[in-house]
Amino acid sequence: MEKIIIIGAGGFGREVKMLIDQMNLKGNKYEFLGYFDDGVKTGTIINNNEVLGSIDDLLKSDEKINVIVAIGSPDIKKKIVEKLLKNSNIAFPTLIHPSVIIGDEFVSIGKGCIICAGTIITCNIIIKDFVILNLMCTVGHDTTIHSFASFMPSVNISGEVVIHEEVYVGTGAKIINQLEIGEQTIIGAGAVVSKSLPERCTAVGIPAKPIKYH
Ligand SMILES: CC(C)(COP(=O)(O)OP(=O)(O)OC[C@H]1O[C@@H](n2cnc3c(N)ncnc32)[C@H](O)[C@@H]1OP(=O)(O)O)[C@@H](O)C(=O)NCCC(=O)NCCS
Repeated sequence: MEKIIIIGAGGFGREVKMLIDQMNLKGNKYEFLGYFDDGVKTGTIINNNEVLGSIDDLLKSDEKINVIVAIGSPDIKKKIVEKLLKNSNIAFPTLIHPSVIIGDEFVSIGKGCIICAGTIITCNIIIKDFVILNLMCTVGHDTTIHSFASFMPSVNISGEVVIHEEVYVGTGAKIINQLEIGEQTIIGAGAVVSKSLPERCTAVGIPAKPIKYH
């Protein structure tokens, strides 16, 4: 079994631990060692698993280790990954829950992604690195999702959509076909996106409209 640790000891981190457990039920793959988190005291026990240290502690490690970054916020996730890339002992596997449906036809998924239970990814789709698709998302044909984007539960992305880097999509949002979402844009929970959105805005509502730029 390969050793794996989770960055982020919060709620999503515990859900990713569940994902690893469910992958292991289909054939032991990963030995879970514990969490690393800058905001939680080393030695804290979370559901019988230990917080082993901070990100800096992990950077010093000279052991070959698989790391999964269980942080929903795209910018924080990216900053942590950029730090960890300095340690060549660290590998970033993609975790895919056994219930996920992925079409056989021309789907590519990069490294460090987390694809949670119930998600469906159809055909001719490119998913780059460190993308999170939380529970029960759907990704339609000919869509491209760039690195560090995070999708909360039950987001539906239609066909031919382009999602740029570090986009965050709140739970239950729907993005209709042939749209483009600019880099670092945030889409509110429950939004229906009916027109392309520019970069670095927060858009909410039905239809989704930018309410601020950042
Ligand atoms: C869109 C979002 C990021 C905005 O957060 P924010 O930048 O802190 O903005 P605020 O909370 O100050 O809200 C600004 C305004 O937008 C409204 N608003 C916020 N989120 C909204 C949403 N999803 N739909 C409609 N209106 C929303 C607020 O009521 C507020 O309106 P007001 O100015 O009339 O009072 C956040 O509300 C959201 O939807 N996050 C997604 C959370 C999620 O999916 N979590 C999943 C965890 S698994």
